[in-house]
Amino acid sequence: MSTQKKPSRPEKITTQTVVEMKQRGDKISMLTAYDYTMAGIMDAAGVEVILVGDSASNVMAGYDTTVPMTLDHMIYHTSCVVRAVDRALVIGDLPFMSYQVTAKEALISAGRMMKEAGAHAIKLEGGKSVSSTVKRIVDAGIPVMGHLGLTPQSIYKFGTYKVRAKEEQEAKELVEDAKALEDAGAFSIVLEKIPSDLAKKVTESLSIPTIGIGAGPHCDGQVLVIHDMLGLNKDFSPRFLRRYEDLHSKMTDAVSHYISDVKSGDFPNENEQYN
Ligand code: KIV
Repeated sequence: MSTQKKPSRPEKITTQTVVEMKQRGDKISMLTAYDYTMAGIMDAAGVEVILVGDSASNVMAGYDTTVPMTLDHMIYHTSCVVRAVDRALVIGDLPFMSYQVTAKEALISAGRMMKEAGAHAIKLEGGKSVSSTVKRIVDAGIPVMGHLGLTPQSIYKFGTYKVRAKEEQEAKELVEDAKALEDAGAFSIVLEKIPSDLAKKVTESLSIPTIGIGAGPHCDGQVLVIHDMLGLNKDFSPRFLRRYEDLHSKMTDAVSHYISDVKSGDFPNENEQYN
């Protein structure tokens, strides 16, 4: 009889895991991914949550806003990520106009994200205005992450990507929106580009975790767009962004080196050909 052990499977991160992390005071790491190769690297590195964000519109498709993204685009990107992941919780972002018209349409969109892409949860933007929709989706067995503060799908309403909820009234509404999402059954909420003190207040008022981007250190977790944190986007430098690499320069150098090797005849060499 063989005594060889099966390779141990990594323990999967679930929506429960992230709620328990908040309870224990363990910070949650989340990053975006849109393709198989990057998602595989992140999962192996140990990130707990991978968001297939509609920021794919900017960093993958080259649009100025997230508005043009379709549900089919998001399902495609999410399915690529899901195929790479063994451990992380994969959240598929519902794009603009795939959930705002009716709760029924939202449920159908969320269902497609789960069944066709294999997402483990969905994310959508908005507070009180979408809380009955969130409840409908959660009641159908689909976990929902909310998104408050700067909600990029509403860029044409805001007119700017500046910090949100600096004024008392908007801050008060944001606190109410967060509570409405929690009451509707959301398992977590992204807080984007809001003052750090407000993020602290919201985080302390909820039993579900908050994940911040430009929302300071008091959130239960943090998220960055992978292209931004790897320094692939040379021209995007908001104050909240920490760049962990300068891949724009490294890739430019590698491609330039390759071009010059091809032109000089240095590539391919003896070992890089078949005899
Ligand atoms: O689409 C996205 O990448 C996001 C994150 C910035 C939270 O919503």
